[in-house]
Amino acid sequence: MYSLITIYLAALWLLLASQVNANAWITYPVDGYATLTHYEIPRDFVASCGCAPSSTHYPTAALSQMAYGSSRAYGPACGKCFNLTLLNPVMVDPPFYPNVTKHVVIKITDLCPLSKDGWCSGTKNKPNSAGQYLNFDLAYPSQAIPDDFFPSDEALYGYKDFGVWNISYQTVSCEPNWAGSQEATALGSVATLGPESVCCPANPTGNTSCVSYSDQNGLPPDSIPTTSTGHTSGCKPIRPVLLVPSVLCLLALLAY
Ligand SMILES: *[C@@H]1O[C@H](CO)[C@@H](O)[C@H](O)[C@H]1NC(C)=O
Ligand SMILES: *[C@@H]1O[C@H](CO)[C@@H](O)[C@H](O)[C@H]1NC(C)=O
Ligand SMILES: *[C@@H]1O[C@H](CO)[C@@H](O)[C@H](O)[C@H]1NC(C)=O
Ligand SMILES: *[C@@H]1O[C@H](CO)[C@@H](O)[C@H](O)[C@H]1NC(C)=O
Repeated sequence: MYSLITIYLAALWLLLASQVNANAWITYPVDGYATLTHYEIPRDFVASCGCAPSSTHYPTAALSQMAYGSSRAYGPACGKCFNLTLLNPVMVDPPFYPNVTKHVVIKITDLCPLSKDGWCSGTKNKPNSAGQYLNFDLAYPSQAIPDDFFPSDEALYGYKDFGVWNISYQTVSCEPNWAGSQEATALGSVATLGPESVCCPANPTGNTSCVSYSDQNGLPPDSIPTTSTGHTSGCKPIRPVLLVPSVLCLLALLAY
């Protein structure tokens, strides 16, 4: 009897704990405003979602942790596609409103870790310093995106890269909108690792989206990967011939 009660209480605690976790994630509207930063990942890099290396040949981005939906590995945002439209760089003096409208359709392949006050610091109750709850971190420079993607006025400002942009985003179907959507090698996740370790749907919908790795494994939603520099793991780019290092790299990525 005693042990039954213990089991019951443990089960109740687990249930409550998982609900606390599930409630911590940001649920965001399908269309809205966000901030956009950019970061460098090597070509053929396998990032947190475990998407196929060739996904990096097309526009990809990381999403801020509390919207991504996991504090490690894959989350519900993995594989989703968004149309990102540049509005204005934030905190630029004097303000800059570009005379061209730039947009790009990206696929989420990576997690941008929560930090105390970085651009990916948005939580349900606290936006980042530009007042946005979501931050997309664009893989850029990239062969998939023109070098003049970000408008600028170097003559006026004395520098070219404004760093952080105010953007609008729209949730879009990856097919046919994402540039890699017709390229089989750019779709899906790293096949050698099995469905339990990676999740990168070609075109996620309500019933094909990834679950939260951290919820599934009882990890706190707001834990911050301690070994990460920037927001990626220290993994080297994966080439198909280096399967063993690839597996080790992904295991390390899952384990950090
Ligand atoms: C993306 O947004 C731009 C406007 O900012 C629009 O012209 C374009 O059609 C949109 N693309 C998709 C696939 O929704
Ligand atoms: C971002 O753009 C929206 C729409 O124009 C505007 O309401 C908001 O103030 C802008 N935010 C920043 C930080 O520039
Ligand atoms: C847009 O503005 C930039 C600088 O802000 C300028 O160099 C460029 O010529 C302008 N382009 C058009 C089409 O007006
Ligand atoms: C997912 O949803 C679609 C459309 O509602 C349905 O046709 C399909 O069978 C569902 N797949 C699974 C695995 O539930």
